[in-house]
Amino acid sequence: MMLDCSLVREDFEVIAREGIAYLDNAASTLKPRQVIEAMASFMRESYANVHRGVHRLSVRASMAYETAHEAVAKFIGADSWEEVVFLRNTTEASQLLVETLVTNGVIGEGDEVVLTEAEHHSILLPWLRALKRVGAKPRILPVNDEGVPEWGLLDEYLGKRTKAVVFAHISNVTGYVTNVREVVKKARSVGALVVLDAAQSIPHMPFNVKELGIDFALFSGHKMLGPTGIGVLWGRADLLRELEPPLGGGGSVRDVVLAGVGVRVEWDDPPWRFEAGTPPIIEAVGLAEAVAYLKRLGMGDVARHEKELTTKALAELSSIDEVEVVGPKDPGRRHGIVSFVVRGHNPDAVGVWLDARKIAVRTGKHCAHPLHHRLGLDGTVRASFYIYNCVDDVERLVSAVREYVARYGRG
Ligand SMILES: Cc1ncc(COP(=O)(O)O)c(C=O)c1O
Repeated sequence: MMLDCSLVREDFEVIAREGIAYLDNAASTLKPRQVIEAMASFMRESYANVHRGVHRLSVRASMAYETAHEAVAKFIGADSWEEVVFLRNTTEASQLLVETLVTNGVIGEGDEVVLTEAEHHSILLPWLRALKRVGAKPRILPVNDEGVPEWGLLDEYLGKRTKAVVFAHISNVTGYVTNVREVVKKARSVGALVVLDAAQSIPHMPFNVKELGIDFALFSGHKMLGPTGIGVLWGRADLLRELEPPLGGGGSVRDVVLAGVGVRVEWDDPPWRFEAGTPPIIEAVGLAEAVAYLKRLGMGDVARHEKELTTKALAELSSIDEVEVVGPKDPGRRHGIVSFVVRGHNPDAVGVWLDARKIAVRTGKHCAHPLHHRLGLDGTVRASFYIYNCVDDVERLVSAVREYVARYGRG
């Protein structure tokens, strides 16, 4: 069955009310009424803190919170909810993971980690700073002129000190889709862990952690119809069980004993030991509802629908002389995202022009400055698609860009 985007649109009131073509989905998606209602009714009827009381509201809230872990685990093909850690967003998941690995000595002085020049700052900053602190060395795989990591050079970047390979499944700038299994095969040959930034893939296509063979995945609820304030670190259970959390606090321990000037801690099982403090309870209920919504649509259909829109946008924008599309020209190598520049024009000026026509895009360097520096770009205009976008949104975008070019010409 094909996804019916006009039917989907009915669940997103703001689209009709504003008459908007919302093409800023890589930054964050809109929220369907089902997610809004699930969160509101949970707050009205079942809200309390979790794992901290025997009273009925706390028990009900705890069950909803645990069920949300289970729903997310199933959605990504994980073995159990134990592997799903709820944090604030991809950025925090990235930070928590690297801090966990260095705190536990999995990565230490003299070790190496492979990253790419195309990564989002939410990967680059936590990882580069933590590696520097412990005297480990980042090996940064360069990108080519299309902005695609030179995966063909990976062997030269791997060695016996490589502890992890960290990269985006789908680039938030070029939309390039990395062949994860190929990278996993090579990383395994040197015994390195594989950390996948799945912020732009899990919301958009069928995804299975086991089939990919990765060790850790990171993603954000707000990019997949869920609320802000919840993100996920998925990790293999056998790894998580062996690791102490870098952050401690309420809800993360079984026991704490003051021992002289120190403290003896018995950590709770994963995922709780990594979720110190009151967690995103209401947000978890919203995310579970978002996952249920996407499952009803079917992720295969979601992916096919977006592919169709991306292919059309790529072809039509590329056919405009003054427009330069960033990333691979072959739609088969990318998904869901088309970034471009109108040569000689500031991307923000194009963004403002589009907004005046009720077309929402993102402009700027998309938290991937090193990639833009390498490509010699001072920013791009990014259109990114989701389930409520139909062909008319692509047509509106393309004709508005044509009008812009007709009016202002070559910069
Ligand atoms: C590929 C990629 N990684 C990480 C992030 C960071 O996500 P968040 O801002 O939700 O932490 C984003 C979102 O902008 C992204 O596109």
